[in-house]
Amino acid sequence: MKLLVTGGTGFIGRALIARLQDEHEITVLTRDPERATRQLGGGVTLQRSLATLHNLDGFDGVINLAGEPIAEGRWTMAKKRAICDSRWQITESLVRLCNTSAKPPSVWINASAIGIYGARDAQPVDESTPVSPMSFAEQVCERWEGIARRAATQATRQCILRIGLVLHPDGGALKKMLPAFRFGLGGPIGSGEQMMSWIHRDDLVALIHHLLTHPECEGVFNGTAPHPVSNRGFSQALGQALGRPAVLPMPAPVLKLLFGEMSELLLTGQAVLPKAAEAAGFTFQYPQLASALDQLLSRP
Ligand SMILES: NC(=O)c1ccc[n+]([C@@H]2O[C@H](COP(=O)([O-])OP(=O)(O)OC[C@H]3O[C@@H](n4cnc5c(N)ncnc54)[C@H](OP(=O)(O)O)[C@@H]3O)[C@@H](O)[C@H]2O)c1
Repeated sequence: MKLLVTGGTGFIGRALIARLQDEHEITVLTRDPERATRQLGGGVTLQRSLATLHNLDGFDGVINLAGEPIAEGRWTMAKKRAICDSRWQITESLVRLCNTSAKPPSVWINASAIGIYGARDAQPVDESTPVSPMSFAEQVCERWEGIARRAATQATRQCILRIGLVLHPDGGALKKMLPAFRFGLGGPIGSGEQMMSWIHRDDLVALIHHLLTHPECEGVFNGTAPHPVSNRGFSQALGQALGRPAVLPMPAPVLKLLFGEMSELLLTGQAVLPKAAEAAGFTFQYPQLASALDQLLSRP
């Protein structure tokens, strides 16, 4: 297939492209083609902007991952604008190009995040749980999904992937946590009761591949492992995987002082189940956190 991938240079995108590159012809949308060549090698075509495209006739599929990092630093007005614009505007442009295509892509996979479910207790949620966006993160995702849905037609099958906390030491949350936990300075955040719905990056990449190659897959899919854990349980499992104590708590007021509104992403959570992926026959290689962490942290 000829695939257009946005966010292909990112933490998830790089692993995805490594997996898809041999089977598919990939074009990556990137703001910095020189950096992208260093990151991805010469096996992909690079597209600096969508403005030079007139339609998506040359593409069989779109995988839309691009977005300003949401869980990094304080949410200033400028940062909030970048978080929204990078997702909404790129997706709007893609939808416009799709709708002007004589032969639109047959499949469209759009990232979203489990943050759309908002702050919840330990009661599990799945794709059928209604969402009613209140917080900034929920609103970002809800509008992002809404824009993407305009590309879903008879000709274009669409999967919205609500991604959980993606685990790999190369990036994302785990890379940020590892230094403190390696020094025995890690521990639960706030009450430690907030639920964390995580997924091994290899499983997320395999799930995207599954959605791409199974024409019966359509609609919303949670990209999370089937066994979410509390933040306290996550800290204990990470400490155990590293052979270090993980008992030093991070008090909520300190996080609020450091990160302002963004701290809500760390202090609240939701137990998200991948019901649709399992119903579609997808098998997780790492369903349990302990074995996922053992595999991720035992690499040379
Ligand atoms: N990682 C997670 O745990 C997680 C969890 C839930 C949802 N997600 C969602 O999944 C998607 C991919 O995640 P990721 O962790 O791979 O993200 P990432 O590493 O931050 O990469 C995102 C990519 O988006 C592009 N990008 C970043 N800021 C941009 C901006 N202001 N304008 C235009 N493009 C921009 C960048 O590509 P160029 O620099 O090449 O242009 C970047 O490589 C994101 O949309 C994210 O919200 C991720």
